[in-house]
Amino acid sequence: MEFNILKKTPLYNAYSELGRRLFLPQGIFYWSGRAKKEAEIIGTIGSAFGFEKDFIDGGSSEWLPCYLDELSEFFSVNVKQIVPYASIGGLNEIREIWKDWIVRKAKYDKNREKDLLLRLERYITKPIVTAGVTNGIYHSCALLLDSGEFIIAPNKRWGNYDNIIEKNIGARIKSFEFFSGQNFNLNSLDDAIKDVAKSQEKIVIILNFPNNPTGYVPTKKESNEIVSLLQERQRSLKKPIFVIVDDAYEPYVYTNDSSTRSIFYDLHQLEEDVIPIKLDGVTKELLMYGARIGFLTFGLKPSWTKNDEELEDLKSEINNKSEGLNRATISSCNHFYQTITQKMFKEKGIEKFLSSREKVFNLLKKRYEKINSELMKIDDKDISIDPNSGGFFLFLNLNPKKIKATEFGDHLLQKYKVGVIPIEKPDEGINGIRIAYCSIDLSNIPEVVKRINLALNDF
Ligand SMILES: Cc1ncc(COP(=O)(O)O)c(C=O)c1O
Repeated sequence: MEFNILKKTPLYNAYSELGRRLFLPQGIFYWSGRAKKEAEIIGTIGSAFGFEKDFIDGGSSEWLPCYLDELSEFFSVNVKQIVPYASIGGLNEIREIWKDWIVRKAKYDKNREKDLLLRLERYITKPIVTAGVTNGIYHSCALLLDSGEFIIAPNKRWGNYDNIIEKNIGARIKSFEFFSGQNFNLNSLDDAIKDVAKSQEKIVIILNFPNNPTGYVPTKKESNEIVSLLQERQRSLKKPIFVIVDDAYEPYVYTNDSSTRSIFYDLHQLEEDVIPIKLDGVTKELLMYGARIGFLTFGLKPSWTKNDEELEDLKSEINNKSEGLNRATISSCNHFYQTITQKMFKEKGIEKFLSSREKVFNLLKKRYEKINSELMKIDDKDISIDPNSGGFFLFLNLNPKKIKATEFGDHLLQKYKVGVIPIEKPDEGINGIRIAYCSIDLSNIPEVVKRINLALNDF
C-alpha cells in the first residue's frame, strides 16, 4: 500500500517513526486469502484443523480447528466461534457492531440532528479491536509519539499512562494541573499546549472522563470550554491537535449537570484539525474485565478527502497501519470474548444488557451519593475532595504539610483495617488517597468514612 491519501493528511505527519514505518505486510495474508477463494486443498493456515471425529470421541464429520475435549465442558458456543485466530483487526461483525454502538452513544436525535448523525457515521473509522483499553492507549500513543516527544495529560491520571507512555514508548508526559478549586483548569491545559507547541509540530493530549483516580466529569459548560479552547489553539498554532479520549468509564456519570456524552463527539464535529481518537471497550461498559476487548476509533475530518472513494481508501490505509501494529504486538485479540460481545449485542440485545447494567449503575450511583455526603460531614481543613460525578473512584486530598498520603494509607490500613490507594507525587503537587467506592457496599460506606475520620484525627 502506498498511503497516498493518508500522506496528505496531518495524521500522517503526526505519525511517529514507528507509525510511519509500520504497515501490514501482504505476504501470507495475500496467499491465504487467495487460497481460500481458489484452492481445493488449503495449506496456508498455520493452525491445526481436522475432522472433529478424528480427534474427539463421538465428534462430527465437520472440519474444525482441533481443540481439546475438556474445553467443551466450559462453553456452549460453537467451536468455530472461539478456537480459530480472530482476524488481526478484530472480527468484522463485532467491529461493525461497535461502530454502530459508538454512533448510538452520541445520543443524537435521529430527526433533529440528522446531519450530525450522518457525519459521525461517515467520518469515523471502523473500530480496531485492541487488547482492552490499556492496549488502545499503547496503540494510539505508539502510533503518534516518538521517544522524547510530549503528550499532555492531567496531573491526576491513571498511573499506567506513565508506564505505557514513558517507560514503554519512551515519550514524555507534560502534566497540567487538573483543577483550579472545583473546576477544570483550562489555563493550565492551555499553558501546556503552548509549551509543547514550541518544540513539536503536533500536539497530543490524553483525556479521561470519568477520570481515574478522581471521578471527575466536566460539566456541560466546562466540556464546551475545553472544546472551544482546543479549537482556538488549533487555529492560532496551526498545528494538529490529537486528543486521545480514554472512555473506559463512559457510561457511569451520576449527575445531570455533568456531560453524559463523551467529549469525542464534540471534538469530532469541529472542522479544525482537532482530531479525536476514541478508546472504549467491554471492560467496564459490559462489565467483562477479563475479556480484554477494547476498541480504537479515529475521528476523521471531511476536509481530508475529496470524495467517497478517497475517504474509503483513507479508512483502509489507517486500518492497515493499525492492523500492522496489532500484528507486530498482540497479533490479534481474544476470539472467545469477541464472540461473546457479539452475542450480547445481537442475541441478548442492547436493551436487555442496558437494563441489566442499569442495576449496577444504580448501585454505584447510590454509593457515589453516600460517600460524598458522608465525607462532606468531616470538618477538617486539611482535606478536600476533588470534583467528582462519575466512574468508580473519588480522590481525597490531604494537606502534605501535615499528612503524607502513604503514611496515612498505611495507618488507615493497620489501625482501622481500611484499604485505599495513597497517591503521593510531590513534583505534581499530589498527596491524597483514591477511594474505590465501586467495591464498597453501600452499607459499609458510613463505617469507612468514620474510620477515615478517626485516622485523620490521629495525625
Ligand atoms: C482510566 C483507565 N483507562 C484504561 C483502563 C484499562 O482498561 P482495560 O482494562 O480495558 O485495559 C483503566 C483501568 O483501570 C483505567 O482506569
